[in-house]
Amino acid sequence: MDTIWVEKYRPRKLKDVAGQKYIIERLSAYVKVSNVPHMIFAGPPGTGKTTSVLALSRELYGESWSQNFNELNASVL
Ligand SMILES: Nc1ncnc2c1ncn2[C@@H]1O[C@H](COP(=O)(O)OP(=O)(O)OP(=O)(O)O)[C@@H](O)[C@H]1O
Ligand SMILES: [Mg+2]
Repeated sequence: MDTIWVEKYRPRKLKDVAGQKYIIERLSAYVKVSNVPHMIFAGPPGTGKTTSVLALSRELYGESWSQNFNELNASVL
C-alpha cells in the first residue's frame, strides 16, 4: 500500500485503539444506541484522539462514514 505509515497503521476499529479502555467503552456504548453527544477530545499529540473519532464514525455510519464526516484542521485555518 502506497501510504504513510501513520495512516497505514491507524486502527480502524474502536476495539483496536490501545490504552483508552474506559473511553473506548463509552464510545462503543454510543455506537450501540446510535446516539452521540457533543464531545471534546483533549490530550497530548498522537494518543488516539483523531483515530478514535474516525473509528467511531466508521462504526456509526458504516460504508457511508466519509459522507457523514467533516474534518477541520485548526492549524491551517
Ligand atoms: N491509542 C492508540 N492506539 C493505537 N494506535 C494509536 C493510538 N494513539 C495513536 N496511535 C497511532 O498514532 C497515530 C496518530 O494518532 P492520532 O492521529 O489519533 O493522534 P491524535 O491524538 O489525534 O494527535 P494530535 O493531537 O496530534 O491530532 C495513529 O495513526 C495511530 O497509528
Ligand atoms: Mg488528531
